[in-house]
Amino acid sequence: MTRIAAAAILAASLVLAVAADAQQAPPARVAAPVIKIEKGEACVAPADEMRRNHMKMLLHQRDRTMRQGLREPQHSLKGCVECHASRDTGSVLGKEGFCSSCHEYTAVKIDCFQCHTPLRQAPAAARRP
Ligand code: HEC
Ligand code: HEC
Ligand code: HEC
Repeated sequence: MTRIAAAAILAASLVLAVAADAQQAPPARVAAPVIKIEKGEACVAPADEMRRNHMKMLLHQRDRTMRQGLREPQHSLKGCVECHASRDTGSVLGKEGFCSSCHEYTAVKIDCFQCHTPLRQAPAAARRP
């Protein structure tokens, strides 16, 4: 068998294994995270990829911006906040916050919002005193 064919078979059986797993998953015991999509038609990448890779995107983006002076607004943290902040609180943090509720569920801690704002920026007109 060629290596490519073997790889294809392996990939196919992995997909099946994952599908079978999902079907047999026991009911969740912990409250599921709140994933409310507040804005936008699509994310910067497919949801599935975002679930797995958003941390790499953001950390990578930070390295590139800080060290090489590059700025690709597509994966900016500000962009995430603009789309994912709650309509009620204007924030991605808090009990039902998009970032925080999933991180709480998965026991992830991030320090990003000690420096970056978790709040969606109001339109310029609304911000004037
Ligand atoms: C000690 C303060 C501090 C912390 C903590 C911090 N940042 Fe930043 N970050 C900055 C500063 C300063 C800049 C450069 C100025 C700017 O772009 O606003 C920056 C820039 C960025 C950028 C590029 C600009 C943008 O908006 O996309 C990203 C992405 C980013 N940070 C992500 C993160 C992530 C993810 C975390 C948490 C893992 C994090 N930062 C934690 C201070 C911080
Ligand atoms: C233009 C608006 C927009 C931007 C910018 C955006 N998102 Fe999204 N995001 C969405 C939408 C809409 C979905 C739902 C997509 C779907 O279900 O197919 C989504 C889905 C996701 C998901 C999957 C949620 C789930 O269903 O489990 C994650 C994680 C995510 N985004 C994180 C991020 C991060 C991190 C950033 C910044 C790097 C970001 N998003 C930037 C609109 C956006
Ligand atoms: C669907 C669940 C989910 C959502 C929604 C989500 N995250 Fe995450 N995030 C995770 C998981 C799980 C990890 C840990 C992954 C790992 O350790 O490999 C993580 C890790 C991270 C990390 C890396 C932490 C580190 O130091 O390694 C950053 C940065 C991050 N998320 C930012 C965000 C931001 C910003 C948002 C909101 C725009 C967000 N995440 C929304 C599940 C989520």
